[in-house]
This record gives sequence, C-alpha cells and structure tokens, in this order.
Amino acid sequence: MNIAVFASGRGSNFQAILNAIQHQLLPARVCVLISNNSAAGALDLARAHRIPAMHLSQRQFSDEKVFIDELLSALQKHDTGLIALAGYMKKLPPRVVQQFRNHILNIHPALLPAFGGPGMYGMHVHRAVLNSGATTTGATVHLVDEEYDGGPIVMQKTISIERGDTPERLAERVLAIEHEIYPLALKAFAEGRVKIEGLKVKILEPGA
Ligand code: GRF
Repeated sequence: MNIAVFASGRGSNFQAILNAIQHQLLPARVCVLISNNSAAGALDLARAHRIPAMHLSQRQFSDEKVFIDELLSALQKHDTGLIALAGYMKKLPPRVVQQFRNHILNIHPALLPAFGGPGMYGMHVHRAVLNSGATTTGATVHLVDEEYDGGPIVMQKTISIERGDTPERLAERVLAIEHEIYPLALKAFAEGRVKIEGLKVKILEPGA
C-alpha cells in the first residue's frame, strides 16, 4: 500500500510510520511526503530516507483551484492509496477529501469526539484536557471528512491523567501512544482488515 504522508512540523509520527515499515510491522511504503511548511523537519526526514518530499502550499498559488490540481496530481503521480495526516496543520481541500474518502487518516492527541475541532491543536488540547478535570486522555486515529477532527473513529488508546501532569508532560505521554497506534491503524488498512459501515469502523483480527 502506498501511503502519502502530510506533515507540517517535526514529523515524529512520520518517523514512527517509517520505523514500523523498516521493522516490517507495516506492509506499506511512503510514496510521498507533502508539507505546507518549507521548514518542516518532516521534509528533511523524507529526504534523508530518499522519499519524494514536496513543499506544496496554497500560498505558492494565486488560484486555489491550481493548488488543489497540483495536490491531486502529486497524489496520483505517486500512486497514492492512502493519505496519512501526521501533524498537518491545514484543512485538506474538500476536493481531495472527496477523491480519497475513507482513505484519509489523521491522528489527534485526545479522545475524540471530546477536545477536537477548530483551535484544538498542540498544547491547546492538553491544557483544555487538564482544565476540564478529566481523569483520562489519549490519542485517536480517525477517518478524515470535511470537518476539523470529524470523521469516524478508527482506533483509540487511553491513558490516565496523573497528579502533577502539566500540558507539556501530558503531550509527551500522549505522543508516545500516538506513535504506537498510528502504525497499527495503518497496518489494518494495509492488510484490508477495515470495514466501514456508515459512521462505524470495524477492524477485523488478522486472519479473521
Ligand atoms: C501530534 O500531536 C498529532 O497528534 C497532531 O500533531 C502532532 C504532530 O506531531 N495532529 P509530530 O509532527 O508527528 O511530531
């Protein structure tokens, strides 16, 4: 399975995906890395692994349609089967969502549907979780639709909030479980073990 990874930042989830592929835990390859941010660490990581690395941003184009055409043609050129958003800070254009519907995943650093939506990214999420008095948090892999952090939930893992947790400490502990579940969710897609029924996603056991 060819995965196109979209990332805006350092790319630690992208690295986790590459590690899983390298250790033969994920039967897939990353066919292209696309970033809206020319300074993204994820672009350097892709280059170091000789993976096609593209800086593609709406800002490079005066016409939105041309930007989306470029995105779609890059995805087609690299024979993309699945898109994995890994810290991509832009909303995917609806035309891309439509063309790849049910084949786009995102990872979010909280237990959706709580603590998601516009403005809920990075430390904002962990601060909101701590301020809410919640006793658990976690990470969510979900299918991407036209809404921020919308789309059916594919996989979640929960951790307890500990006394003395700060937003920074929580971010670190949640990131560790993001790195665990994102490759697992991608593996289920790569192995054809995902059944999507309306808003519900079922993952079949290997060999089932
Ligand atoms: C992660 O916390 C992820 O949940 C969110 O953006 C962050 C990306 O981190 N969507 P990284 O670039 O993968 O290290």
